[in-house]
Amino acid sequence: MRYGVLADIHGNLPALEAVLNAVDAHRPDAILCVGDLVGYGAFPSECVDRIASLARGCVAGDHDLVAIGRQTEHLLDDLGAETSGWTKAALTDRARDYLSTLPLHLELGPVVLAHASLRDPWRRVGPAAAEDELLGLSARRPDASILVLGHTHTPLAYCEGVGSIPREDPVKLVPGRKYLLNPGAVGQSHESSPVARCLVLDLTDGSAIFLAVPYDAERYVAELRSSGLPPDAHHRPVQPRTDPPGDALRRARLEAGAPRH
Ligand SMILES: [Fe+2]
Repeated sequence: MRYGVLADIHGNLPALEAVLNAVDAHRPDAILCVGDLVGYGAFPSECVDRIASLARGCVAGDHDLVAIGRQTEHLLDDLGAETSGWTKAALTDRARDYLSTLPLHLELGPVVLAHASLRDPWRRVGPAAAEDELLGLSARRPDASILVLGHTHTPLAYCEGVGSIPREDPVKLVPGRKYLLNPGAVGQSHESSPVARCLVLDLTDGSAIFLAVPYDAERYVAELRSSGLPPDAHHRPVQPRTDPPGDALRRARLEAGAPRH
């Protein structure tokens, strides 16, 4: 089984089309998505419709939950909160209905999907938190070997007990080991220049290929402007906020020498 895996599309239809074309060249058996189909971007309903028609499995992201009224805006970053009203107004009933069907977690054989973390839909899981997250995977699904997350908008390949793995070449997935994979964001890169990212996960030959796909970002900026959205909504070189309130609180306790709960 070979999956094309997408995350954090954020209403960026030109970027979504670019990654779908790139993934197509690898002849995937199915498309998976780990959430945040909407928020920030100019084509939320179009992106939802595309994923609804294509994806074998999809989970809800924090922006998706806000868009359908299941979470409040105050946990989003500033740009997310600024654009969430626009997104809600732009969503068609059909798109809202699809987002309402999405689970928080999904298990497909050895692969488990969640948006941000298995335990907390707002937690950011980078390399420092990956080992702990894989311990959670072992407790929840001892037979699963691959956890796919999004949310950070930063690609990551991490092997339990080893650490981060270089992503330049196809990542070899060693049988018996557990991996955390994050494709990076389709629709809002946090890099030096706009790029759309995705992942080809091949369970048959045990490999993960990280793709970085160029797309017509200038054309998309014009779409953002004409929609009345911030013209830099597709590209955030610097994270607007690095920690959700829970992590910030835990860190403050640690720095103060308070016991960890
Ligand atoms: Fe996101």
